[in-house]
Amino acid sequence: MSGAGEALLGKIRDKSARVAVVGLGYVGLPLVRAVLDAGFSVIGFDVDDAKVQMLGRGESYLKHLGDELAQNLASSDRFEASSDEQILGSADIVILCVPTPIDERREPDLSFVSGSAQSVGRGLRAGQLVILESTTYPGTTRDVVVPILETSAVDRGVSLRSGEDFFVAYSPEREDPGRAGMVTSMIPKIVGGVDEASGTLATEFYTRCIEHIYPVGSSEIGEAAKLLENVYRAVNIALVNELKLVFDRMDIDIWEVIEAAKTKPFGFEAFYPGPGLGGHCIPIDPFYLAWKAKQVGHETRFVELAGEINRKMPEHVVSRVGESLCEDGKSLDGSTVLIVGVAYKPNVDDIREAPSAEIIKLLTERGAVVKFHDPLISSFPSMRRYNIRLRSVPLDESELSGADCVLIITDHDGIDWDYIGRHSSLVVDTRNAMVNAKRNAGDCVARVVKA
Ligand SMILES: NC(=O)c1ccc[n+]([C@@H]2O[C@H](COP(=O)([O-])OP(=O)(O)OC[C@H]3O[C@@H](n4cnc5c(N)ncnc54)[C@H](O)[C@@H]3O)[C@@H](O)[C@H]2O)c1
Repeated sequence: MSGAGEALLGKIRDKSARVAVVGLGYVGLPLVRAVLDAGFSVIGFDVDDAKVQMLGRGESYLKHLGDELAQNLASSDRFEASSDEQILGSADIVILCVPTPIDERREPDLSFVSGSAQSVGRGLRAGQLVILESTTYPGTTRDVVVPILETSAVDRGVSLRSGEDFFVAYSPEREDPGRAGMVTSMIPKIVGGVDEASGTLATEFYTRCIEHIYPVGSSEIGEAAKLLENVYRAVNIALVNELKLVFDRMDIDIWEVIEAAKTKPFGFEAFYPGPGLGGHCIPIDPFYLAWKAKQVGHETRFVELAGEINRKMPEHVVSRVGESLCEDGKSLDGSTVLIVGVAYKPNVDDIREAPSAEIIKLLTERGAVVKFHDPLISSFPSMRRYNIRLRSVPLDESELSGADCVLIITDHDGIDWDYIGRHSSLVVDTRNAMVNAKRNAGDCVARVVKA
C-alpha cells in the first residue's frame, strides 16, 4: 500500500479519521449514527440546507428515526452538519449516499452521483477514501466516480491517482427503514474496492462501525450483489402477485397458501402480494440492471416481466373495488372510497413511488370521491407524475360509515382493524390486515374482500 494509504490506515485504526456522509436521507442519516457510535468524528453534508438547519436545531425530518437521533446529533461535539461543500476537503473518508432514480425512459439517472462526486473532487486531496453506497449498476464506481475525481483534480492542476494517492470503494446500503430492532450497525455490509488497497481501507473502516463485514473482490461484485438482492425481491413479489390472481379465480386465498407453504423449513422464503411496488429501491433498481445488461447485449426478461406484472397491481385493486361496489348495488362513479395507509410500506412516512398515488389517480378518473387516512402522512408531497391535493382525514366512525368502500393499502402498526371492521360496510383489503377482525365475526360488520 502507498504511503498515503498507510497514513489513512493509521487514522482509521486509531479512529482519528474524519468521516463525511454525503446525502442525509433515509440511508445517510442512520449511517451517520453508526459511524458516530463507533467513535469517529462525522460531517453530515447535504445540498438541501433545510435538512442541515433542522439537524442543527435537533429537529428530525424522518419520523421513523425518532426525535432522539436529531437531538443527539445537535448536542454531539463530534458531529457537524453543513451544506458547504468545502467542508468535504477536511474529511479523510467521504461516503456518498445520494439518490439513484430513473428518468422518463426508465434509464439510470446518475446526476446525483456525478454531482456529489464533483463536490468531493473539487476538494480532493491525497489520503482520502471515497465510498459510494448508492444502489447502481455494476461499473459505476470505477467508470463514473473514479474519472470524475481524477478529472476534478487535474482541473485544479493537481495530479492524484486512484489507488495510490486517493482510494475508492463501493459498499451497498441495505437499510430497511421502519424495520423494528434492526439498526445500521447490525446489517452485514458488503465492501469492494476498485483496487486492493481501496478494498482493504474500506474494510478496515467499516469493521469498526458494523458488526459483520463481507469483503468482495471488486466494486463491481458489490454493485451486482445489491442489484441481485433487489431483483430477487421484485421477481418474487411479482410471482406471488400473479399467483394471487390465479388462486383467486379458484377461490383459494393466497395468504392462507403462503402461510401453509412457509412451514417448509428449507428451500422456501415467503413473499407477500400487495397493491403494487413502492419505495426508492424495488420499483427502480431492476432498471439499472436492465439498462446495463442492454449495454452488454443482453436482455433481462425476468426483470421486465416482473415489472410488467407488478405495475398492473394498482389497476387490479381498482377493478376489485369497482366489482365489490357493484355487488353492493353501487358504482365507482360517485362512490366515496376511503383509503387507509398511503405510504409505500408500513411504519414509514415515505411516499416515493407508492402505488397509492396511481390507485388514487385511477379511482378519481373513474368518478370516485377519494379520501385517505395515514397516521404518518398528512398530505401528498409534489410528485413527478401525480398532483394529489388530499389531506389525511381522521379514522373515525363518521368517515368510516360515510365511505362506500374502505380500501386498505398500507398496514401501519397501530391502526385499529377491529374498529374499521365495526364501523365500515365494505372493506377491500390488499394486505390481509383484516384477517383477525374478520375472524372475530361478531364484532366485524363489514364485508371484507381481499384484493
Ligand atoms: N431508502 C432506502 O430504504 C434505501 C435502502 C437501500 C439503499 N438505498 C439507496 O441509497 C441511496 C440513497 O437513498 P435515500 O433513500 O437515502 O435517498 P434520500 O432521497 O432519502 O436522501 C438522499 C439525500 O441526498 C441529498 N443529495 C442529493 N444530491 C446531493 C449532492 N450532490 N450532494 C449532497 N447531498 C445530495 C438529498 O438532498 C437527500 O437529502 C439510493 O441509491 C437508494 O437506492 C435506499
